Amino acid sequence: MVDKPLFTPGPLTTSRTVKAAMSRDLGSRDTEFIRVIRDLRNSLLQLAGVSQADGWEAVLMQGSGTFSIESVISSITPPDGKWLVIINGAYGERILKIIERHGIAAEAIRSAENELPDLVAIEAALGGEEFTHVAVVHCETTSGIMNPIAEIGALAKEHGCVYFVDSMSAFGGVQFDFAGSQLDCLVSSANKCVQGVPGFGFAICRRELLDATEDHARTISLDLTAQWRGLEGNGQFRFTPPTHTLLAFAQALRELDEEGGIAARAARYRANHDVCVAGMRAMGFTEFVPENLQGQIITSFLYPTDDFDFDEFYNRLNEKGFVIYPGKVTKANCFRIGHIGHLFPADTDALLTAIRAVAAEMNLSLSPKPA
Ligand SMILES: Cc1ncc(COP(=O)(O)O)c(C=O)c1O
Repeated sequence: MVDKPLFTPGPLTTSRTVKAAMSRDLGSRDTEFIRVIRDLRNSLLQLAGVSQADGWEAVLMQGSGTFSIESVISSITPPDGKWLVIINGAYGERILKIIERHGIAAEAIRSAENELPDLVAIEAALGGEEFTHVAVVHCETTSGIMNPIAEIGALAKEHGCVYFVDSMSAFGGVQFDFAGSQLDCLVSSANKCVQGVPGFGFAICRRELLDATEDHARTISLDLTAQWRGLEGNGQFRFTPPTHTLLAFAQALRELDEEGGIAARAARYRANHDVCVAGMRAMGFTEFVPENLQGQIITSFLYPTDDFDFDEFYNRLNEKGFVIYPGKVTKANCFRIGHIGHLFPADTDALLTAIRAVAAEMNLSLSPKPA
Protein backbone atom coordinates (compact mmCIF):
# COMPACT_ATOMS: atom_id res chain seq x y z
CA MET A 1 0.00 0.00 0.00
CA VAL A 2 1.53 3.35 -1.04
CA ASP A 3 0.24 6.47 0.68
CA LYS A 4 -0.29 9.65 -1.30
CA PRO A 5 2.15 12.47 -0.44
CA LEU A 6 0.40 15.06 1.71
CA PHE A 7 1.09 18.65 0.63
CA THR A 8 -0.85 19.79 3.69
CA PRO A 9 -0.09 21.55 6.99
CA GLY A 10 -0.48 18.33 8.99
CA PRO A 11 -1.11 15.55 9.60
CA LEU A 12 1.67 15.25 7.08
CA THR A 13 3.74 12.67 5.28
CA THR A 14 6.02 10.88 7.75
CA SER A 15 9.01 8.64 7.10
CA ARG A 16 8.63 4.86 7.00
CA THR A 17 10.84 4.64 10.11
CA VAL A 18 8.66 7.06 12.10
CA LYS A 19 5.61 4.93 11.31
CA ALA A 20 7.53 1.75 12.15
CA ALA A 21 8.51 3.13 15.58
CA MET A 22 4.83 2.88 16.58
CA SER A 23 4.59 -0.87 16.13
CA ARG A 24 5.23 -1.60 19.79
CA ASP A 25 3.02 -1.75 22.87
CA LEU A 26 4.54 -0.09 25.90
CA GLY A 27 2.71 0.32 29.18
CA SER A 28 2.23 3.87 30.40
CA ARG A 29 4.10 3.07 33.65
CA ASP A 30 6.84 1.04 31.97
CA THR A 31 10.29 2.34 32.96
CA GLU A 32 11.35 2.31 29.29
CA PHE A 33 8.37 4.47 28.38
CA ILE A 34 9.05 6.89 31.24
CA ARG A 35 12.62 7.21 29.95
CA VAL A 36 11.26 7.99 26.46
CA ILE A 37 9.14 10.81 27.91
CA ARG A 38 12.04 12.25 29.87
CA ASP A 39 14.42 12.17 26.88
CA LEU A 40 11.79 13.62 24.62
CA ARG A 41 11.16 16.57 26.94
CA ASN A 42 14.89 17.25 27.10
CA SER A 43 15.21 17.03 23.31
CA LEU A 44 12.45 19.59 22.86
CA LEU A 45 14.26 22.03 25.15
CA GLN A 46 17.50 21.41 23.24
CA LEU A 47 15.74 22.03 19.96
CA ALA A 48 14.57 25.38 21.32
CA GLY A 49 18.12 26.15 22.49
CA VAL A 50 17.10 26.39 26.17
CA SER A 51 17.46 24.09 29.19
CA GLN A 52 15.91 23.20 32.53
CA ALA A 53 19.04 24.63 34.17
CA ASP A 54 18.13 28.01 32.64
CA GLY A 55 14.58 27.77 33.99
CA TRP A 56 12.70 26.25 31.04
CA GLU A 57 10.24 23.35 30.97
CA ALA A 58 8.72 21.24 28.19
CA VAL A 59 5.20 20.09 29.05
CA LEU A 60 3.47 17.48 26.88
CA MET A 61 -0.32 17.52 26.59
CA GLN A 62 -2.62 14.92 25.04
CA GLY A 63 -4.80 16.00 22.11
CA SER A 64 -4.26 18.07 18.99
CA GLY A 65 -2.37 21.36 19.03
CA THR A 66 -5.44 23.40 19.94
CA PHE A 67 -5.71 21.46 23.22
CA SER A 68 -2.21 22.65 24.17
CA ILE A 69 -3.09 26.25 23.31
CA GLU A 70 -6.23 26.03 25.42
CA SER A 71 -4.22 24.39 28.19
CA VAL A 72 -1.74 27.28 28.29
CA ILE A 73 -4.36 30.03 28.13
CA SER A 74 -6.72 28.50 30.68
CA SER A 75 -3.89 27.64 33.07
CA ILE A 76 -1.55 30.63 33.07
CA THR A 77 -4.01 33.54 33.15
CA PRO A 78 -4.75 35.00 36.59
CA PRO A 79 -8.37 36.05 37.25
CA ASP A 80 -7.55 39.71 36.55
CA GLY A 81 -5.40 38.97 33.48
CA LYS A 82 -6.07 40.62 30.12
CA TRP A 83 -4.76 39.43 26.76
CA LEU A 84 -3.81 41.43 23.68
CA VAL A 85 -4.19 39.08 20.71
CA ILE A 86 -2.47 40.00 17.45
CA ILE A 87 -4.55 38.57 14.61
CA ASN A 88 -3.98 38.18 10.87
CA GLY A 89 -5.64 34.83 10.25
CA ALA A 90 -7.90 32.05 11.51
CA TYR A 91 -5.48 30.71 14.12
CA GLY A 92 -5.15 34.13 15.76
CA GLU A 93 -8.96 34.28 15.82
CA ARG A 94 -9.00 30.85 17.49
CA ILE A 95 -6.70 32.07 20.28
CA LEU A 96 -9.10 34.96 20.94
CA LYS A 97 -12.08 32.59 20.91
CA ILE A 98 -10.43 30.32 23.49
CA ILE A 99 -9.62 33.27 25.76
CA GLU A 100 -13.16 34.60 25.55
CA ARG A 101 -14.70 31.14 26.08
CA HIS A 102 -12.94 31.03 29.45
CA GLY A 103 -14.41 34.42 30.37
CA ILE A 104 -10.97 36.03 30.32
CA ALA A 105 -10.63 39.68 29.26
CA ALA A 106 -9.08 40.29 25.84
CA GLU A 107 -8.75 42.74 22.99
CA ALA A 108 -7.54 42.11 19.46
CA ILE A 109 -5.44 44.03 16.98
CA ARG A 110 -6.24 42.81 13.49
CA SER A 111 -4.48 43.24 10.19
CA ALA A 112 -5.27 41.84 6.74
CA GLU A 113 -4.49 38.16 6.19
CA ASN A 114 -1.69 39.01 3.74
CA GLU A 115 -0.19 41.84 5.81
CA LEU A 116 2.09 41.93 8.83
CA PRO A 117 0.75 43.04 12.22
CA ASP A 118 0.87 46.78 12.82
CA LEU A 119 3.70 47.28 15.32
CA VAL A 120 2.78 50.93 15.91
CA ALA A 121 -0.79 49.95 16.86
CA ILE A 122 0.55 47.19 19.15
CA GLU A 123 2.92 49.61 20.87
CA ALA A 124 0.09 52.12 21.32
CA ALA A 125 -2.23 49.46 22.77
CA LEU A 126 0.41 48.21 25.20
CA GLY A 127 1.17 51.80 26.25
CA GLY A 128 -2.14 51.87 28.12
CA GLU A 129 -0.61 49.29 30.54
CA GLU A 130 -3.90 47.37 30.87
CA PHE A 131 -2.63 44.13 29.29
CA THR A 132 -0.90 41.31 31.16
CA HIS A 133 -0.46 38.85 28.24
CA VAL A 134 0.30 39.12 24.52
CA ALA A 135 -0.35 36.35 21.98
CA VAL A 136 0.55 35.96 18.32
CA VAL A 137 0.76 33.14 15.77
CA HIS A 138 4.26 32.51 14.39
CA CYS A 139 3.52 31.14 10.90
CA GLU A 140 -0.18 31.96 10.31
CA THR A 141 -0.97 28.74 8.47
CA THR A 142 -4.19 30.31 7.17
CA SER A 143 -2.12 32.10 4.52
CA GLY A 144 1.51 31.04 5.12
CA ILE A 145 2.61 34.51 6.27
CA MET A 146 5.48 34.66 8.82
CA ASN A 147 4.84 37.05 11.66
CA PRO A 148 7.66 39.10 13.28
CA ILE A 149 7.69 37.35 16.65
CA ALA A 150 10.92 38.96 17.90
CA GLU A 151 9.68 42.51 17.25
CA ILE A 152 6.34 41.80 18.96
CA GLY A 153 8.19 40.08 21.82
CA ALA A 154 10.33 43.16 22.38
CA LEU A 155 7.18 45.30 22.70
CA ALA A 156 5.50 42.79 25.03
CA LYS A 157 8.54 42.76 27.32
CA GLU A 158 8.91 46.55 27.29
CA HIS A 159 5.42 46.65 28.82
CA GLY A 160 5.96 43.77 31.28
CA CYS A 161 3.59 41.31 29.56
CA VAL A 162 3.79 37.52 29.42
CA TYR A 163 4.47 36.63 25.76
CA PHE A 164 2.85 33.57 24.15
CA VAL A 165 3.52 32.35 20.60
CA ASP A 166 1.50 29.73 18.73
CA SER A 167 4.36 28.20 16.72
CA MET A 168 2.32 25.15 15.78
CA SER A 169 3.30 25.02 12.14
CA ALA A 170 6.77 26.63 12.46
CA PHE A 171 8.63 25.09 15.42
CA GLY A 172 11.28 22.67 14.14
CA GLY A 173 11.08 23.93 10.55
CA VAL A 174 12.01 27.60 10.94
CA GLN A 175 15.20 29.01 12.42
CA PHE A 176 14.67 31.66 15.05
CA ASP A 177 16.28 32.85 18.27
CA PHE A 178 14.00 31.34 20.92
CA ALA A 179 15.28 33.20 23.99
CA GLY A 180 16.06 36.33 21.93
CA SER A 181 12.41 36.49 20.84
CA GLN A 182 11.50 37.18 24.49
CA LEU A 183 9.13 34.23 24.57
CA ASP A 184 7.64 33.08 27.84
CA CYS A 185 5.72 30.23 26.29
CA LEU A 186 5.48 28.56 22.89
CA VAL A 187 3.17 25.80 21.70
CA SER A 188 3.57 23.32 18.87
CA SER A 189 2.43 19.76 18.21
CA ALA A 190 3.68 16.31 17.28
CA ASN A 191 2.48 16.25 13.68
CA LYS A 192 4.06 19.41 12.29
CA CYS A 193 7.70 20.23 11.51
CA VAL A 194 9.21 17.61 13.81
CA GLN A 195 7.37 15.19 11.51
CA GLY A 196 5.68 12.91 14.01
CA VAL A 197 2.11 11.67 13.96
CA PRO A 198 -0.91 13.34 15.65
CA GLY A 199 -1.79 12.74 19.29
CA PHE A 200 -0.22 15.38 21.50
CA GLY A 201 1.04 18.95 21.65
CA PHE A 202 3.65 20.58 23.81
CA ALA A 203 4.35 23.86 25.54
CA ILE A 204 7.89 25.10 26.09
CA CYS A 205 7.67 27.66 28.85
CA ARG A 206 9.50 29.42 31.62
CA ARG A 207 9.25 27.51 34.90
CA GLU A 208 8.51 30.73 36.81
CA LEU A 209 5.37 31.08 34.70
CA LEU A 210 4.16 27.64 35.81
CA ASP A 211 5.09 28.31 39.44
CA ALA A 212 3.35 31.68 39.44
CA THR A 213 0.08 30.33 38.07
CA GLU A 214 -0.32 27.20 40.19
CA ASP A 215 -3.95 27.87 41.12
CA HIS A 216 -5.26 29.47 37.94
CA ALA A 217 -6.24 26.40 35.90
CA ARG A 218 -9.88 26.49 34.80
CA THR A 219 -10.06 22.82 33.76
CA ILE A 220 -8.84 19.49 35.13
CA SER A 221 -7.68 17.73 31.98
CA LEU A 222 -5.92 20.76 30.47
CA ASP A 223 -4.26 21.94 33.69
CA LEU A 224 -0.76 22.73 32.39
CA THR A 225 0.87 23.15 35.78
CA ALA A 226 -0.60 19.90 37.14
CA GLN A 227 0.55 18.12 33.99
CA TRP A 228 4.06 19.54 34.47
CA ARG A 229 4.11 18.56 38.15
CA GLY A 230 3.07 15.02 37.15
CA LEU A 231 5.77 14.73 34.51
CA GLU A 232 8.38 16.09 36.93
CA GLY A 233 7.13 14.00 39.84
CA ASN A 234 6.84 10.39 38.65
CA GLY A 235 7.71 11.03 34.99
CA GLN A 236 4.21 10.03 33.86
CA PHE A 237 1.22 11.64 32.22
CA ARG A 238 -1.67 12.14 34.65
CA PHE A 239 -4.14 10.45 32.27
CA THR A 240 -3.71 7.85 29.50
CA PRO A 241 -0.75 8.94 27.35
CA PRO A 242 -0.62 8.57 23.53
CA THR A 243 2.08 5.89 23.86
CA HIS A 244 2.46 5.06 20.18
CA THR A 245 2.53 8.70 19.13
CA LEU A 246 5.25 9.39 21.68
CA LEU A 247 7.38 6.53 20.32
CA ALA A 248 6.95 7.88 16.79
CA PHE A 249 7.87 11.37 18.02
CA ALA A 250 11.07 10.10 19.67
CA GLN A 251 12.07 8.60 16.31
CA ALA A 252 11.06 11.79 14.49
CA LEU A 253 13.33 13.81 16.80
CA ARG A 254 16.24 11.46 16.02
CA GLU A 255 15.60 11.92 12.32
CA LEU A 256 15.47 15.70 12.69
CA ASP A 257 18.88 15.54 14.36
CA GLU A 258 20.27 13.22 11.65
CA GLU A 259 19.02 15.57 8.95
CA GLY A 260 21.16 18.33 10.49
CA GLY A 261 18.72 19.94 12.91
CA ILE A 262 16.39 22.87 12.30
CA ALA A 263 18.79 24.64 9.90
CA ALA A 264 18.88 21.69 7.49
CA ARG A 265 15.15 21.04 7.76
CA ALA A 266 14.32 24.71 7.19
CA ALA A 267 16.57 24.64 4.10
CA ARG A 268 14.73 21.58 2.72
CA TYR A 269 11.34 23.19 3.32
CA ARG A 270 12.63 26.38 1.65
CA ALA A 271 13.78 24.31 -1.36
CA ASN A 272 10.32 22.66 -1.55
CA HIS A 273 8.72 26.11 -1.35
CA ASP A 274 10.97 27.64 -4.01
CA VAL A 275 10.42 24.77 -6.48
CA CYS A 276 6.68 24.96 -5.90
CA VAL A 277 6.32 28.74 -6.25
CA ALA A 278 8.56 28.93 -9.34
CA GLY A 279 6.63 26.10 -11.02
CA MET A 280 3.21 27.49 -10.13
CA ARG A 281 4.16 31.00 -11.33
CA ALA A 282 5.47 29.54 -14.59
CA MET A 283 2.03 27.94 -15.07
CA GLY A 284 0.26 31.23 -14.36
CA PHE A 285 -0.76 30.90 -10.69
CA THR A 286 -0.22 33.77 -8.24
CA GLU A 287 0.44 33.69 -4.49
CA PHE A 288 -1.86 35.47 -2.03
CA VAL A 289 0.95 36.60 0.32
CA PRO A 290 3.64 38.94 -1.09
CA GLU A 291 6.94 37.13 -1.68
CA ASN A 292 8.89 38.95 1.06
CA LEU A 293 6.33 37.92 3.74
CA GLN A 294 6.06 34.23 2.78
CA GLY A 295 7.50 31.57 5.01
CA GLN A 296 8.57 28.15 3.76
CA ILE A 297 5.76 26.22 5.49
CA ILE A 298 2.75 26.56 3.21
CA THR A 299 1.73 28.74 0.25
CA SER A 300 -1.74 30.09 -0.57
CA PHE A 301 -2.43 30.42 -4.30
CA LEU A 302 -5.28 32.55 -5.64
CA TYR A 303 -7.93 30.82 -7.76
CA PRO A 304 -6.81 31.51 -11.34
CA THR A 305 -10.31 32.48 -12.52
CA ASP A 306 -13.61 33.45 -10.89
CA ASP A 307 -15.24 30.20 -12.04
CA PHE A 308 -12.33 27.95 -10.93
CA ASP A 309 -13.74 24.66 -9.64
CA PHE A 310 -11.44 23.78 -6.71
CA ASP A 311 -13.25 20.54 -5.90
CA GLU A 312 -12.67 19.24 -9.41
CA PHE A 313 -9.02 20.39 -9.31
CA TYR A 314 -8.56 18.69 -5.92
CA ASN A 315 -10.25 15.45 -6.97
CA ARG A 316 -8.33 15.17 -10.23
CA LEU A 317 -5.03 15.69 -8.35
CA ASN A 318 -6.15 13.16 -5.76
CA GLU A 319 -6.82 10.59 -8.49
CA LYS A 320 -3.28 11.16 -9.73
CA GLY A 321 -2.00 10.48 -6.20
CA PHE A 322 -1.46 13.96 -4.69
CA VAL A 323 -3.20 15.61 -1.75
CA ILE A 324 -3.30 19.42 -1.55
CA TYR A 325 -5.33 21.63 0.81
CA PRO A 326 -8.28 24.03 0.49
CA GLY A 327 -7.83 27.70 1.29
CA LYS A 328 -8.64 29.25 4.66
CA VAL A 329 -8.33 33.00 4.14
CA THR A 330 -11.60 34.89 4.31
CA LYS A 331 -11.08 37.73 1.83
CA ALA A 332 -9.91 35.80 -1.28
CA ASN A 333 -10.51 32.46 -2.95
CA CYS A 334 -7.35 30.42 -2.46
CA PHE A 335 -6.03 26.88 -2.21
CA ARG A 336 -2.91 25.86 -0.34
CA ILE A 337 0.14 23.71 -1.00
CA GLY A 338 2.21 22.65 2.01
CA HIS A 339 5.99 22.23 1.97
CA ILE A 340 6.50 20.41 5.28
CA GLY A 341 6.71 16.73 6.18
CA HIS A 342 8.87 13.98 4.71
CA LEU A 343 8.76 15.60 1.25
CA PHE A 344 11.60 16.67 -1.00
CA PRO A 345 11.94 18.94 -4.05
CA ALA A 346 11.51 15.88 -6.33
CA ASP A 347 8.08 15.28 -4.71
CA THR A 348 7.15 18.90 -5.41
CA ASP A 349 8.31 18.49 -9.03
CA ALA A 350 6.04 15.45 -9.35
CA LEU A 351 3.13 17.47 -7.93
CA LEU A 352 3.80 20.26 -10.45
CA THR A 353 3.72 17.75 -13.31
CA ALA A 354 0.34 16.51 -12.05
CA ILE A 355 -0.97 20.09 -11.71
CA ARG A 356 0.10 20.84 -15.31
CA ALA A 357 -1.81 17.77 -16.49
CA VAL A 358 -4.92 18.68 -14.46
CA ALA A 359 -4.80 22.29 -15.69
CA ALA A 360 -4.81 20.97 -19.28
CA GLU A 361 -7.64 18.51 -18.57
CA MET A 362 -9.73 21.32 -17.04
CA ASN A 363 -8.84 23.79 -19.82
CA LEU A 364 -7.82 26.34 -17.18
CA SER A 365 -7.14 29.70 -18.70
CA LEU A 366 -3.81 30.57 -17.13
CA SER A 367 -1.40 33.33 -18.11
CA PRO A 368 2.11 31.98 -17.51
CA LYS A 369 4.55 34.55 -16.15
CA PRO A 370 8.16 34.76 -17.27
CA ALA A 371 10.63 33.37 -14.65
C1 LIG B 1 -0.75 28.01 13.60
C2 LIG B 1 -1.69 26.92 14.01
N1 LIG B 1 -2.28 27.01 15.21
C3 LIG B 1 -3.13 26.06 15.64
C4 LIG B 1 -3.41 24.97 14.86
C5 LIG B 1 -4.37 23.93 15.37
O1 LIG B 1 -3.76 22.71 15.53
P1 LIG B 1 -4.65 21.38 15.66
O2 LIG B 1 -5.42 21.27 14.38
O3 LIG B 1 -3.61 20.32 15.82
O4 LIG B 1 -5.51 21.53 16.84
C6 LIG B 1 -2.83 24.84 13.60
C7 LIG B 1 -3.13 23.69 12.72
O5 LIG B 1 -2.69 23.60 11.59
C8 LIG B 1 -1.94 25.83 13.17
O6 LIG B 1 -1.33 25.77 11.97
